[in-house]
Amino acid sequence: MRGKFYGVGVGPGDPELITLKALKILRSVQYIVAPEKQEGKGSIAFDIIKDHITDPHKVISMVFPMTYDAQTLDESWGKAVQKIGALLMEGQDVAFITLGDPMVYSTYIYMMRLLKTYDVEIETIPGITSFCAAASRLGIALGETNETITIVPSAYNHPNLDKILEYSDNVVLMKTAKNFPNTINILERHRLMGKSVFVSKCSHKDEKIIYDLKSLGDEKVDYLSMVITKKGGLK
Ligand SMILES: C[S@@+](CC[C@H](N)C(=O)[O-])C[C@H]1O[C@@H](n2cnc3c(N)ncnc32)[C@H](O)[C@@H]1O
Repeated sequence: MRGKFYGVGVGPGDPELITLKALKILRSVQYIVAPEKQEGKGSIAFDIIKDHITDPHKVISMVFPMTYDAQTLDESWGKAVQKIGALLMEGQDVAFITLGDPMVYSTYIYMMRLLKTYDVEIETIPGITSFCAAASRLGIALGETNETITIVPSAYNHPNLDKILEYSDNVVLMKTAKNFPNTINILERHRLMGKSVFVSKCSHKDEKIIYDLKSLGDEKVDYLSMVITKKGGLK
């Protein structure tokens, strides 16, 4: 019998913000795939769950470079799918862990699509997204009554960012690490600086919450950073 492939969301960072179902699956599967961006650099998703895992031998690190280069991505996804596919064919259950929720900007999405051709059972276990965790931490609503919420990936150069900031009531700018000063310029242009908050490494031990975005200056911001902007004010 073939094994089952799971995508498991491990939440934003606090190891207690993981679901009971995720925990049950991580303990029951034969293998856990921990994605890392460079060999030996470690996996942020694995750091979140490591205290829950009693058998470190079932953890396999796989490198997924952070790039938009199609050929590099094809190669790394192809290698990963072959390895995971081989384990599934042997009848082993494999869980692929992702930060936050697996269906929100994650490598799992591509693994899931490619593994569908192996005709194996696939189950996705949702996780607490980084922006839901940040809103709770800040004590602000992400959306209420008929307000809209827009999530923007690669906020530093998204082609529709101006329009989104103009029309959406609440905006989450993700992946802001690259060219953060540009994000600040855009928020200034839309007069949203006083209505925006920066959150980095939400629910991690070294979490940062900054309301005065200007104070970040040219500081290099962490990859796990976002800005939440609320037209109606931060409430
Ligand atoms: C590849 S996306 C992953 C999103 C994730 N699947 C989710 O559900 O939140 C990575 C981006 O998510 C945001 N992010 C993830 N974890 C975060 C955290 N703990 N604190 C702040 N931002 C976080 C950052 O904007 C980061 O660049």
